[in-house]
Amino acid sequence: MAIIFKISPNFSSIRFKLTVTYFFLIIGLLLFSNWYVFRVFEAEYLKTRQVTYLTHANVIAGAGGDYLARKDPQAYYLARNFGAQVQARVLMLDKDGVVFADSFDDERIKGRPLKHSEVLKALAGASGAGSHFLAGDGWVLYVAVPVLVGQEIVGAVFLATDINDIYQVLTEIRRRMLLLFFAGGAGAGLVSLVFAGALTGRLKRLTAAVEKVSGGHLHQRVEARGHDEVSALAGAFNIMSERLEKIDRGRRFFIASASHELKSPLSSIKALAESLILGNERNVDVYKEFLQDINSEVDRLDRLTDDLLNLVRLEEQGVRPPLAAVVISELIAEVADRLQAPSRRAGVTLEMNVEQHLLWPVNKDLLWRVLYNLVENGIKYTPPGGLVQVYGKANAGSLIITVQDNGEGIPNEDLLHIFDKFYRVDKARSRQTGGTGLGLSIVHQAVILMGGQISVTSSLGEGSCFIIKLPGD
Ligand SMILES: Nc1ncnc2c1ncn2[C@@H]1O[C@H](COP(=O)(O)OP(=O)(O)OP(=O)(O)O)[C@@H](O)[C@H]1O
Ligand SMILES: [Mg+2]
Repeated sequence: MAIIFKISPNFSSIRFKLTVTYFFLIIGLLLFSNWYVFRVFEAEYLKTRQVTYLTHANVIAGAGGDYLARKDPQAYYLARNFGAQVQARVLMLDKDGVVFADSFDDERIKGRPLKHSEVLKALAGASGAGSHFLAGDGWVLYVAVPVLVGQEIVGAVFLATDINDIYQVLTEIRRRMLLLFFAGGAGAGLVSLVFAGALTGRLKRLTAAVEKVSGGHLHQRVEARGHDEVSALAGAFNIMSERLEKIDRGRRFFIASASHELKSPLSSIKALAESLILGNERNVDVYKEFLQDINSEVDRLDRLTDDLLNLVRLEEQGVRPPLAAVVISELIAEVADRLQAPSRRAGVTLEMNVEQHLLWPVNKDLLWRVLYNLVENGIKYTPPGGLVQVYGKANAGSLIITVQDNGEGIPNEDLLHIFDKFYRVDKARSRQTGGTGLGLSIVHQAVILMGGQISVTSSLGEGSCFIIKLPGD
C-alpha cells in the first residue's frame, strides 16, 4: 500500500480508486478461495480417515462379539492385537457402556462407563465418529460401532486414534496458501496499479492536450487507438482541435485580407497627399483633381469598413432574424429604383418579372441587401447593351428569386470560391470598379440567416444566374 500512496497521493484520483477497488476485489477472492479449499481438504481427509476406522471398528466388532457376549477376558488380547495393527486404542464396552477390554490395559478406566456421544450413539444402534482436541494429545478421532449378536446389541467397540498427522498436513497447506495469498495480493496490487495507470495515463495525456489547446496551441492531436470510451473521447478531441485550427486559420486569413484591403486605399491617399505637399504645384485644377482622387479613395475605405462591419454583424448574429410579411414585388422595385442611375450609366437594362401581390415572410433589411448586391453585380459585370433580369415566384412552399444577367460570366474554377470573403475573379478590374469582394459573402450569410439557400450557375461570356430559395413559415 505504501507504494500506491507514494506514486499517487491523490486519494480522489481515478487511478487510486481503481487500484484500491481491484486490490480489495482480488484479495477478497483469494481469501475466500483459500478458506474454501482449506475446508474441502479438511473434510476430505477426515472423512477418509473416519471411513477407514469405522471399517476397522466393524471388523473388531464382528470378531469380538462372542467374547463380549460371553464376558470372555480373551477380549483384551483381541483388542490389543487389533489396536497394534490399526494404530488405535481399542476399547470394548458392554451394553451399558462400561469398559470391558482396553488395548492399553489402563486400570483407571476398566469397569467404568464411557459417556462420549459416539458411544451413546453406538449403544443406540448407530455408528458414530467425531474429531476432538485433547489438551495432552492434540487431535484425536473417536469412532464407535455397536456390537450385535443376532439382533441384540451386546455392547460397542470404541476406537481412539491420533489424527495429528492430518492437521499437520492441513497446517502445511494453510501455510502455503497464505504464502500464495500474500504473493497473489502483491501481484494483484501491482497489476491493478499498472492497469489503472495505463487507463489514467491516457486520460492524463488527453487532459494535457486540452490544456495546451486552451492555452492557444491548437495543433494538438492525441492517439485514439482502440474502441473504448477513452478512445472515443480522444477521437472527439481530435475532431474538435482540427475544427478549431480551421476556424483559427480562417480568422487569420480574414484579418490579413482585411488589412491588405484597407492598406491599398490608405497608401493611395498618402501618395496623393504627399505629392501635393512636396511638389510646388500652383494650379488649383490640379489640386482639385488630386483631392477628387483622395475623396474617391476615402469613399472606397468607407464602403469597405461598412461591408466589413455588416459581415461581422451578420456572422455574429447566428440566430434567425425576425421575419415579417413583405410584398416581394415592391421590395424588388425599390432595389431596382435605387440602381436605376448606375444601370443607365453602364448601359444595362433592368427587367423585373415578379409575381404580383406575392407576400412572403422575410427579413426586409437582409433581403434588400441580398438583392441590391446581386443586381449591382449583374450591372457591374455586364457590358453595355446587356440585360439584368430579376424573377420572383412562389414554388412548392418556397420563394424563388432569380437574378440573371447576360454579362461576362464566371470561370468554372472560380465558382467554388465566389462566396468567400475578399474573393474576386479579376482582381485588377474589380478594384477599378470599386469592388471589395465582400458583397457575395454578405449575400451568402444573409440567405443562410433567413434559413434559405443560394446557388449559382454561370458560363463564361454568356452570363450568370444566382438563384435564392427562401422557406415559407
Ligand atoms: N454577375 C456576375 N457576373 C460575373 N462575375 C461576377 C458576378 N457577380 C460576382 N462576380 C465575380 O465575383 C466576385 C465577387 O463578387 P462580390 O460581389 O463578392 O465582390 P465585388 O463585386 O468585387 O465587390 P463588392 O460587391 O464588395 O463591391 C466579383 O469580383 C466578380 O469577379
Ligand atoms: Mg459585388
